[in-house]
Amino acid sequence: MSNTVVMGAQWGDEGKGKIVDLLTERADVIVRFQGGNNAGHTLVVQGRKLILHLIPSGILHSGKICCIGNGVVLDPEVFLKEIDTLVEKGVDASPERLKIAKRAHVIMPYHRRLDVARETAKDAGKIGTTGRGIGPCYEDKASRIGIRASDLLDEKLLRAKIEAALLEKNALFGLYGQPVMCVEEVMAWALPLCGRIKEYIQDVPAVIENAMSGGRPVLFEGAQGTHLDIDHGTYPFVTSSNTVAGNAAAGAGCAPNKLDAIVTVVKAYTTRVGSGPFPTELSDKTGDFLVEQGAEFGATTGRRRRCGWLDIVILRESGRLNGPTGIALTKLDVLTGLEELKICTAYELDGKRLDYPPQEQDALCRVTPVYETVPGWTEDITAATSFDQLPANCRAYVARIEELLGVPASIVSVGPGREQTIIRA
Ligand code: GDP
Ligand code: IMO
Ligand code: MG
Repeated sequence: MSNTVVMGAQWGDEGKGKIVDLLTERADVIVRFQGGNNAGHTLVVQGRKLILHLIPSGILHSGKICCIGNGVVLDPEVFLKEIDTLVEKGVDASPERLKIAKRAHVIMPYHRRLDVARETAKDAGKIGTTGRGIGPCYEDKASRIGIRASDLLDEKLLRAKIEAALLEKNALFGLYGQPVMCVEEVMAWALPLCGRIKEYIQDVPAVIENAMSGGRPVLFEGAQGTHLDIDHGTYPFVTSSNTVAGNAAAGAGCAPNKLDAIVTVVKAYTTRVGSGPFPTELSDKTGDFLVEQGAEFGATTGRRRRCGWLDIVILRESGRLNGPTGIALTKLDVLTGLEELKICTAYELDGKRLDYPPQEQDALCRVTPVYETVPGWTEDITAATSFDQLPANCRAYVARIEELLGVPASIVSVGPGREQTIIRA
């Protein structure tokens, strides 16, 4: 396998974790390049489910190296808890195979408090964040007052940086009626974590370079999805990082010409958690059917995911932004039993037909989807191991998606398990 980016084409939760776990067999190093523990990536191996928020989804494969890149925001408390869970399950999560980039930014308790306080204070216009401190941590990075993983190794520097950050944060806490935080309180939280985490903080760009120069493939694991991207997503209802494939190189610490393949993960219908426009959303029986059949509850916050028909317009935009060499089409089995399926192929807005989403804020709330209707299927497909075993209508649905997007569905997923996957290329 070549160096491959796996990332989401919609609004997250497309099944990236499963696809990364699967493709890890063909890679040597797996790197997360953006986001933080707002992500919830689910792996189901031999019927056992594991949800990872921060550690790359390749960790279950022994002998592979997993890295958290500089583009990630890392909550050290969550990281160490995730390690404990893995070790309990007998997984090797030692610093020999799990590494944090020195330049990754650290989520501090004041980031979490600010995230929650802001959301609580809003009446209308709530983003519906995961409350994990993601936005405030990226804000500090851009404001150049952030704390980076390597700062955790220097107590004097850490204290000075926390003191500087708290100056502004405490003023904001006053605004939101929150108690202030003092340096000692934050240091008391940080110091025990620093002791445990220090061995993990390493030179990740060097690990990636060594692998690549030795011809050992690297897999880049995206979090969230293209339409949650801070620039290209449904702003302001987005996350705070660039989720598009182009950020894989910058967020991991390697040259962009080293990325050979881009696999965008596409759910066979559409879901979204949190607020924001969603043109093909179904607030009816079919929407409930998708929630139930697809077990569409958030892997991080447990929130019920909003569900709707497949939206080719947003996927067309994902194609233009990410340049997929293939798509991994997931959760096809969830559609089994629906008499008819709708595919949104364009929008109408103010009497005009649009092939791409409008870029003005709020315009996406006003579009009307243009649908084509295709027949569904009733046969159980969860045991299919080859494309030919799928019912004709199911194959036709996949073929129509490929035709509309101009990209092959090189992986088709028919269930949550590792083995419930049809690999076509
Ligand atoms: P991620 O954030 O993109 O990794 O996706 P999540 O893990 O948040 O959500 C995807 C959910 O769908 C998880 O519960 C997976 O176990 C499950 N899943 C993945 N692929 C399939 C599939 O093909 N069929 C079904 N029924 N479930 C799947
Ligand atoms: P994975 O990697 C789905 C959404 C939140 C909210 C918005 C901003 O599992 O696909 P944030 O906490 O990032 O500031 O919240 O982004 N969101 C996700 N939705 N899957 C995710 O990750 C998400 N990570 C963030 O619900 O609407
Ligand atoms: Mg998820």
